[in-house]
Amino acid sequence: MKIIIINGPNLNLLGKREPEVYGNKTFEDYFSELQFRFKEVELEYYQSNIEGELISKLQEVGFDYDGIVLNAAAYTHTSVGLGDAVKAINTPVVEVHISNTYNREDYRHVSFISPGAKGVILGFGLQSYDLAIRSFL
Ligand code: DQA
Repeated sequence: MKIIIINGPNLNLLGKREPEVYGNKTFEDYFSELQFRFKEVELEYYQSNIEGELISKLQEVGFDYDGIVLNAAAYTHTSVGLGDAVKAINTPVVEVHISNTYNREDYRHVSFISPGAKGVILGFGLQSYDLAIRSFL
C-alpha cells in the first residue's frame, strides 16, 4: 500500500505558524510518528508552496499510488487547476485540513478540491492526517 501526503503553501511552517490554530509540532516530526504508526504502509511526504508543482505532483503519482492525502492549504479555496487535477487522476484523494475551515473566515468555506475528493476530514488538528490514512486501510 503506497500513500502520499501532499501539503500545500505555508504548511512547511507548521510548528512556527499561528500555533494557536495549527499547533506547535513540525510536520517532519509528525510524519515520523505516522511512519512509526503505519509500518505496513509505504508513506511518502511532499510539500510545495507553488501551485503548478502541486499539480505536477498529483499528475505524477495519480495513476499508480493507492491513496493521496491532500492538504492544499490556501489553494483549496482558490485553485481551479488543483481541483481539475484531482478529478483528472485515478488515485483516490482524501482532502484534509488541520483546522475546521467552517468555523473560520467565509472565504475558507469554499473548496475546489472537495468535488473530486473521495472524502474530506477536517478540524482534528494533525490527527486529520492519521484519520485520512486509516480511511485507505
Ligand atoms: C488549512 C486551512 C486553510 O484555510 C489554510 O489556508 C491553510 C491550512 C488547514 O489545514 O487547516 O493554510 O488547509
